[in-house]
Amino acid sequence: MPVSPYPSLTAALLAWYDRHHRDLPWRVSPLRQARGERADPYHIWLSEVMLQQTTVQAVKPYFLKFLSLWPTVKDLAAAPVEDVMAAWAGLGYYARARNLKKCAEAVAAGHAGIFPDTEEGLRALPGIGDYTSAAVAAIAFDRPAAVMDGNVERVISRLYAISDPLPGSKPAMKAKVRTLTPEERPGDFAQAMMDLGATICTPKRPACALCPFNGDCLALKEHDPERFPVKAAKKEKPVRQGAAFVAVSQEGRILLRRRIDSGLLGGMTEVPTTAWTARADGGSTPDHAPFDADWQMAGVVTHVFTHFELRLTVFRTRTETEIATDGWWHAVTDLDSQALPTVMKKAITQAIPLAFARDGG
Ligand code: ADE
Repeated sequence: MPVSPYPSLTAALLAWYDRHHRDLPWRVSPLRQARGERADPYHIWLSEVMLQQTTVQAVKPYFLKFLSLWPTVKDLAAAPVEDVMAAWAGLGYYARARNLKKCAEAVAAGHAGIFPDTEEGLRALPGIGDYTSAAVAAIAFDRPAAVMDGNVERVISRLYAISDPLPGSKPAMKAKVRTLTPEERPGDFAQAMMDLGATICTPKRPACALCPFNGDCLALKEHDPERFPVKAAKKEKPVRQGAAFVAVSQEGRILLRRRIDSGLLGGMTEVPTTAWTARADGGSTPDHAPFDADWQMAGVVTHVFTHFELRLTVFRTRTETEIATDGWWHAVTDLDSQALPTVMKKAITQAIPLAFARDGG
């Protein structure tokens, strides 16, 4: 028998991946790789930035939209930042979109449009952290980088029954991943760990009978895989209040404005709101409206951010004149062209129930 170049756990995982990998639009399957195809670093980088904090299902249409608008990193670098923000709207964590654009500019201007092919080289680009540099180095360039995300943490913490809580146990988990990561096929290995975590080693009711690690998994031996990963107790999210003002003119236009570049939802479009932040309430009465009018209460919308929950009381009014403010009036029938984050779409929908009915998403 030929000697396997991999430790047995790694070999078992790669064999599982060969048969059961997910088909993803940015991914080059093992079969296509065997025919000589390589993953496109631009596709891998774009998908990995989008996948942080967002599910594969949610990312797919955005990924395809970005590629059709900007087929290469040079195209993305040359795009107006407002267009990139508008295309990103709905994916959340908007600083990622601004950093995406900065990174594309750095690759286009400083590297002639070619991504660096090492973890260190990638790490030096704006907006690329430990996770993205490791993922792109492994998947696009087959560098044996240890790729850690929530899925991988779950798999590793169960495989080795790591009972120290996250986040303190991260370095120990990374050390385990390093020892499993092979010199050959490290990109497939990283993607296999993530697929395993997403499809088999799920947070609830993992499908251990189908898992390539089931002969070795210490959590399964203890009959309680769901106990892992152990997490430090979470603080409850504070609730913040604010108000949002939806004004629609006789011409069917809505009053919008642009948020300042820094801070939460920085640079995104909004309906006028009060000055709520993660740390303090904004006003929630009509005295904070952008102009005097007959403001009617339309209801309350809730949106959960990473560090707090926001409750926005929505007021609406119809105006005869398009009163001059620091914003602009924009057709209600064309809101998809605007960089409106999900919380703002919720507020507008509360006031105008069919505003996004043509959206499909
Ligand atoms: N989640 C984040 N990146 C991923 C990848 N490359 N494959 C599968 N799941 C992922």
